[in-house]
Amino acid sequence: METKTIARFYDNKVEAWDANYTGNADDIGQYEILRRRELVLEILFDRLHNHETLLLDIGCGTGRVISELIVRRPTWQAIGLDLSGEMIDFCQRTYYEQPNLKFFQYDISQAPLPLGAADAALALGVWGHLPDPERAIEHLYDSLRPNGLLIFSINKPSLPRALTVGYRAVRELFKAEHRHRATRNKSYRLAHVIESLSGRFTLLETRDYCYLPYLPGIRRFLRFSKFMERRLGKRPTPFSSAMLIVAQKQPAL
Ligand SMILES: C[S@@+](CC[C@H](N)C(=O)[O-])C[C@H]1O[C@@H](n2cnc3c(N)ncnc32)[C@H](O)[C@@H]1O
Repeated sequence: METKTIARFYDNKVEAWDANYTGNADDIGQYEILRRRELVLEILFDRLHNHETLLLDIGCGTGRVISELIVRRPTWQAIGLDLSGEMIDFCQRTYYEQPNLKFFQYDISQAPLPLGAADAALALGVWGHLPDPERAIEHLYDSLRPNGLLIFSINKPSLPRALTVGYRAVRELFKAEHRHRATRNKSYRLAHVIESLSGRFTLLETRDYCYLPYLPGIRRFLRFSKFMERRLGKRPTPFSSAMLIVAQKQPAL
């Protein structure tokens, strides 16, 4: 997918994206986003204990993950980066009074980020949009301090995912206005991701968290997804469509 198309798509989606974070998660898409944030905060607080910690959020969207993080860890600093100028404008306007948060427009697939100082880098809901994830991994590696954490989400090929893609394809055939090409996130197998990380990152853990296809009316089954997550979330299975990957930067040889 062309990066410009993705930027344009998200430029027009700022308010709609932010609305995912308000109200109750009674829809599987919204549940995925809220659950992802919850899990990421849990993992960060579990693994990082320093008073001062620097975080990067690549593809930060409307900044809802790092803003929540700073509320709960006020001594931490976070930098939100996003391809979409409108997303960054929104974040700069919304969080201008928050000195621990900074936002800049940035494309992870283009420019290196040779900071070498971040304790953790997040990339949530971004992976499937990247034209060259291997390149992004190099850039993320350069941004982290040795042993720094990389936490990112992927969509996996799975039965729920296949049902979602099938449903969307049929809907698109009949309704032109539903053509959300930019959102067609590419999905990845864990084995493929592990291969891309090898030599730079060590895999620490994975968390599966969405066991339903994204179909209308499916919200009634959210309890089923939560049940499956409690049972299986800590091991990768072919039954879930969304996964968080936690990896650690290997020190340079
Ligand atoms: C699905 S949204 C996720 C937003 C946020 N991470 C969250 O969880 O609320 C994906 C975001 O990634 C951004 N994005 C896509 N490709 C990117 C790239 N190459 N570099 C930086 N950001 C990118 C989009 O502009 C969009 O804001």
